[in-house]
Amino acid sequence: MTNRQGVWPTAELHVHIEGTLETELLVALARRNNVELPSYDPDALRELYRFTDLQSFLDIYYANLAVLRTEADFYDLGLAYLTRAAAAGVRRAEIFFDPQTHLANGIPLAVVFGGLTRALNEGRENLGISADLILCFLRHLGGAEALATLDAAIPYLDQLIGVGLDSAEVGFPPSLFTEVFAKAAALGLHRVAHAGEEGGPDYVHEALDLLGVERVDHGIRSVEDDHLLEVLRERRIPLTVCPLSNVCLQATPTLAAHPLPAMLDAGLIVTISSDDPAYFGGYIDDNLAAVQQEFALSPEQMAQLARNSFQAAFLPDAEKRRYI
Ligand code: HPA
Ligand code: ZN
Repeated sequence: MTNRQGVWPTAELHVHIEGTLETELLVALARRNNVELPSYDPDALRELYRFTDLQSFLDIYYANLAVLRTEADFYDLGLAYLTRAAAAGVRRAEIFFDPQTHLANGIPLAVVFGGLTRALNEGRENLGISADLILCFLRHLGGAEALATLDAAIPYLDQLIGVGLDSAEVGFPPSLFTEVFAKAAALGLHRVAHAGEEGGPDYVHEALDLLGVERVDHGIRSVEDDHLLEVLRERRIPLTVCPLSNVCLQATPTLAAHPLPAMLDAGLIVTISSDDPAYFGGYIDDNLAAVQQEFALSPEQMAQLARNSFQAAFLPDAEKRRYI
């Protein structure tokens, strides 16, 4: 299954570009833009990454994004991820970004799109990665802010394939975002949402029924609800599972206790991704290697995960067939 370099060719469908900001680049950008950090030692900064839950991560993740100021910064961030992803075997990447964080930092959308799209073009041409952007709404800012963000992004629609929903889950259910997801659908955008990461199965039900999502990000708590498992299986809804993220944010006590095997046994279309690899100790190859080892997955099971990732990608069937 692995190719000569020992990597699994795959699609990565759940990665936040802001979560790929390694501490070395964080320090370089802080110096470039005169932004204050708690330390300028990349290792010391990484030492601060000890999380107890999603919010404890989000607090540091959002604070670090103050270093992103210019189009060149977003380009450097995007290209660094794509370079690492190519080495990890990624052939297709559907990349989340959080424009509301950058707008709040005073950075215009044109700067964010300009830098990221330039990096994606470069990745396509020089790294052999097909890549597109998915705009995520921050659920803690609510539905009206999400609508305003979608409206502001309309001039950049040709640089987007979809919308997503991320940030603090519990207390911010999908039902708050019905209107903005309906509008995104009317604009021809794909729809995904984080659900069932910390929130219960009811959040996954809502994401499916109220937002019409085509994939569920995380969705690990779906295993608590047999009826939901049936719905996910019958509607063939893929789930983008990020095992090292779930361990780091204590969504699961240990990797051994992760519900991945139960999800596979339930016949779900499971894919593996890295989420925020600069914070959670590994890129997609590390996540794949970790689950292969922990659950003694067979070569056929690893091949199935790879096939699932391309099957679940937002690509025309003819293009998927090139990878599967
Ligand atoms: N969950 C929710 N929001 C996020 C995450 C995540 O894992 N990463 C970046 N924003
Ligand atoms: Zn995520």
